[in-house]
Amino acid sequence: MDVYRSARDMALAERPDHPVYCFHKGVLEADARAFRTMFPGKTAYAVKTNGEPFVLQTLAGLGYDCFDVASPAEFEAVRAVAPRAEMLYMHPVKAQSDIRLALETFRIRVLAVDHEDEAAKILRIVRALDLDPTEITLSVRIATKGHAAYELSKKFGAAPGHAVELLQRIHKLGFQCGICFHVGSQIEDPDTYERAIASAAWVRSRAGVPLAGLDVGGGFPAVYGADPRKRGNGMPTLPALMEQIRSDIAEWGFDDVPLVAEPGRVVVAHCLSLVVRVLLKKGRRLYINDGIWASLSDSWTGKLTLPARHIPDPARRRRTGNPNTLVAYKVCGATCDSVDILSRPFWLPETVDTGDWIEIGHIGAYSLALRTHFNGFYPDRVVEVTTAFEEGGEVFGTASVETMGE
Ligand SMILES: Cc1ncc(COP(=O)(O)O)c(C=O)c1O
Repeated sequence: MDVYRSARDMALAERPDHPVYCFHKGVLEADARAFRTMFPGKTAYAVKTNGEPFVLQTLAGLGYDCFDVASPAEFEAVRAVAPRAEMLYMHPVKAQSDIRLALETFRIRVLAVDHEDEAAKILRIVRALDLDPTEITLSVRIATKGHAAYELSKKFGAAPGHAVELLQRIHKLGFQCGICFHVGSQIEDPDTYERAIASAAWVRSRAGVPLAGLDVGGGFPAVYGADPRKRGNGMPTLPALMEQIRSDIAEWGFDDVPLVAEPGRVVVAHCLSLVVRVLLKKGRRLYINDGIWASLSDSWTGKLTLPARHIPDPARRRRTGNPNTLVAYKVCGATCDSVDILSRPFWLPETVDTGDWIEIGHIGAYSLALRTHFNGFYPDRVVEVTTAFEEGGEVFGTASVETMGE
């Protein structure tokens, strides 16, 4: 990987016409260490958030030895960098061939379920492989309610009464029993975990089976850009949230149960920034070389406020406007699709023009992982940048603030 001191240095040296991801390795190390130190249990990084080898390698280098995986490609990605790491197969609905591969080849021993037919599917394969069910934990995913940028209970999760029956059935089949939940990504309500933990406690007390583990999933919010004209959403800091989770765990009687978390976003959000180029400025519209089909779909659907920095092209001699005046630009993505217009504006200096670059910060989560090949565009260049985004010079604007009218 090529190494630069700052994204600006990279942009001026390479004059890239295609998006470039800037990997801030030290930031990943600091954030990953901080999470593991704060969480009172085992940390299983959610590979789906960013499963690039350079990310997994960095985590493995820090001693991360447990990963939340969702597919054979993720099993392989983990195995390639951390051959002895434990994997938790926390996708509640799985293909039979993938379950077999997980159990037989990858020796995965913790799997999520939210329906009896999924448990039956797993049991058939366990019997066919002549495995001992007591060595396998089926973790019942319970549905939760809360506010998050991404709600994830619409699709998965058993209602509490159903979860009780499921746990009893799993216990009878001879498996170990776990409870898991996922409160949604980027939670927006600090009481979300407490509600989910309380619900898990209710399920546990009704089910009356021994519990091998409680997995509180992901959802831990990353800090993104802030719109100075709006009041914050009152989210506590990560240390405060962890303190709250600790006390909820004690209050609801889970002190005696091994705990797991599956953080994704909060670990990797800050470790990448993205340098995009303005292909054309048309009045208050900027046409850029990335968009919702490449790196920016998460900020689009999750309505995230990303910090941004203008990198003017020194080759442009004449500029109009005031560099200190921020204006809202409607941002159009690189593809031919009219859906590929960001739902929120970029606030950037009036002087931004065709050929300039914009460094968008905190793009490490659900960016590379969600890229498509639509229209033949597929950003894939990654360089290492040794200065963290915040320290790379003044942040001029935000890359998405609020809905902008036509
Ligand atoms: C089962 C599961 N665990 C963990 C995560 C990671 O969540 P986050 O990135 O909000 O930490 C996800 C994300 O969708 C998930 O589906």
